Amino acid sequence: MNFKNTVDRFGVIAICLHWLMAVLLIGLVILGLYMKTLNASMFKLNLVYWHKEFGFLALLLVALRLLWRLTNIDPPLKFLSRFQQISAKSMHFILYILMFSIPISGWMITSTANLSFSFFGLFTVPVITPADPTLHKLAKVIHEWCAYGLIGAFSLHALAALQHHFIYKDPILRRIL
Ligand code: HEM
Ligand code: HEM
Repeated sequence: MNFKNTVDRFGVIAICLHWLMAVLLIGLVILGLYMKTLNASMFKLNLVYWHKEFGFLALLLVALRLLWRLTNIDPPLKFLSRFQQISAKSMHFILYILMFSIPISGWMITSTANLSFSFFGLFTVPVITPADPTLHKLAKVIHEWCAYGLIGAFSLHALAALQHHFIYKDPILRRIL
C-alpha cells in the first residue's frame, strides 16, 4: 500500500490519521462528558489536565491531516450519485470545522482564565487571549455545543459508511481500511 493517496484509495498516512483521530476524538468526548459529572477534586483536576494535553494533540494532528489532505489526491467518489458526493463532501467539511473549533475553543477556555499548560512536559502551551470572564463563558458554550455537534455529525458519518459497506456493497469503507 502507498504512503500517499491514489485515485482508488487512501494511503497509509491518511488512514492512520483517520483512525488515530477517530479513537482520540471519541475518547476526548467521553472524558469531557465524564469530567462534567465530577465534583471538584484532585482526581478531576488531573483528568482536566489530561484532557487539555490530548485535546491539544488532536489540534496538532488535525492541522497535519489537513495539510496532508491538501497536498494529496482526494480519492474521487466517482461511483456515487451527484447528491451522495455532495453530501459526503459537505459532511467531511463539517467534520474538519468541528475538529478545529473544538480544541481551539478549549484552548480559549484555559486562556481566558489566564492558564497556560504543559504539553506532556515537552513545551508550554501559551495563553492566546486576554483574561476575560465574558469570553470565557462564550468559549465554554462553543466548546460544549460543538462537541455535541461532533457526536451528531460523527454518528451520521459512521452510519453512512456502514450503509455503503453492508447495503450498497461499494468500496467506500474498504478504501480507508
Ligand atoms: C478535539 C478535542 C476536544 C474534544 C472532543 C473535547 C470535548 C469536550 C467535552 C465533550 C467537554 C464536556 C462538555 C463541557 O462541559 O464543555 C469538554 C470540556 C472541557 N474541555 Fe474539551 N475537548 C477537546 C479539546 C480541549 C482542549 C484542547 C482544551 C484546552 C486546552 C479543552 C478544555 C476543556 C475544559 C477546560 C473543559 C471543562 C469546561 C467546563 O468546565 O465547562 N478541551 N471538552
Ligand atoms: C466508526 C467510525 C468511522 C467510520 C466507520 C468512518 C468511515 C469513513 C469512510 C468510509 C470514509 C470515506 C472513505 C472514502 O472516501 O472511500 C471516511 C472519511 C473521512 N472521515 Fe471517517 N469514519 C469514522 C470516524 C470518523 C471520525 C470520528 C471523524 C472525525 C471527527 C471522521 C472524519 C472523516 C473525514 C474528515 C474523512 C474524509 C477523509 C479525510 O480527510 O481524512 N471519521 N470515514
